Amino acid sequence: MKTIVLGVTGSIAAYKAAGLTNQLIKLGYDVHVVMTTAATSFVLPLTFQTLSRNPVITSLFSSDSQFEIEHISLAERCDLLLIAPATANIISKIACGIADDFLSTFALTMGSQILIAPAMNTRMWHNPILQENIQRLEQRGVQFVTPEYGCLACGVKGDGRLASFERIIDAVGMTLLKENVLQGKTVLITAGPTLEMIDPVRYISNPSSGKMGYSLARVAKRMGARVVLISGPVCLDIPFGVEMHDVTTACQMRDKVMKYIELADIFISAAAVSDYMPVEVSKEKLKKGADEITLSLQSTPDILREVAVNKGNKIMVGFAAESHNIVENAVKKLKEKNLDLIVANDISREDIGFGADQNEVTIIDKRGGQERVPLLAKEQVAEYILRQVVGVIQK
Ligand code: C5P
Repeated sequence: MKTIVLGVTGSIAAYKAAGLTNQLIKLGYDVHVVMTTAATSFVLPLTFQTLSRNPVITSLFSSDSQFEIEHISLAERCDLLLIAPATANIISKIACGIADDFLSTFALTMGSQILIAPAMNTRMWHNPILQENIQRLEQRGVQFVTPEYGCLACGVKGDGRLASFERIIDAVGMTLLKENVLQGKTVLITAGPTLEMIDPVRYISNPSSGKMGYSLARVAKRMGARVVLISGPVCLDIPFGVEMHDVTTACQMRDKVMKYIELADIFISAAAVSDYMPVEVSKEKLKKGADEITLSLQSTPDILREVAVNKGNKIMVGFAAESHNIVENAVKKLKEKNLDLIVANDISREDIGFGADQNEVTIIDKRGGQERVPLLAKEQVAEYILRQVVGVIQK
């Protein structure tokens, strides 16, 4: 069981730390809460004590010897110090090595195993002194879950809202489960659908959710890679620590891929790229008229095929979404596109189709080797795929 020390500081978002504690406990983490004095003005320590089922530390000194032993051993056991919400004050204190309460003192003992989720007024967040302090900490390996844009407690809209629980928990998992099998490698991933405009308000697309590509990005990051994700329009959170580029059309996706491909050691094409786009995009909305109209389409660039032509030592992974003769068609595609691996999935099955949280695939390598991956969460499927990639690197 991993031990997380959750530092709660005096931001109005301190109440959200109670929900966060609850979720971390449900995920099986051992959570020990440390509160600054200001935080105790917003939420009672008893709330955290009840939720975490552990004593809450609110000061540096105590006459209770049991307590002294407890918090010395805590420093030894702690796998990650998560500070959420973090005020400008605690961030700047840690950046300057100031240790004037339990939380800042504890932070000094933690090296870089610190994850900070700031929450504050937007002007404070954009203050250059704070930003310099954040940069300083980042250079030392401290990680940040950047705050979000939205309505703030002071009534204004701006950057500064505490990141969502999903993003914070994603970052916690990423930090604690980190491996180094892909350390030093850059993985370029495409994900989601593309949209091919017909006129200003209509387009051709498909229902790809982007979940498979985003799961691959998340797992590749966790395995220690630098990850560049190029995504069509989807409704998913950006995976923690991933470099993100949004695109809309197949041509834009192609241009972005070409821009970053030189950096990549591994290219994974998980996007459901439209095969055709309108020959012309009407500048004006097409009027309703004839009962039947004809739309002229032309093929989009085949990004994966283009990249694979000059692949060199790069590892290329494609997807084959098939409805029949799945493995045969996938093998054909692997050869045609000069790939190292292809992931075949059956789109005729509703339980693993577009938008599903699970997938069941067959991974095929260029020597004809096949691995059947059972029905699993897409993140677990991503792990299978990336372990195969690691296998190709090691061959
Ligand atoms: O040729 P087909 O579309 O079936 O091949 C699927 C694979 O090729 C997927 O990995 C997909 O991301 C990629 N692809 C691409 N550019 C296209 C069409 C598909 O990169 N225009």
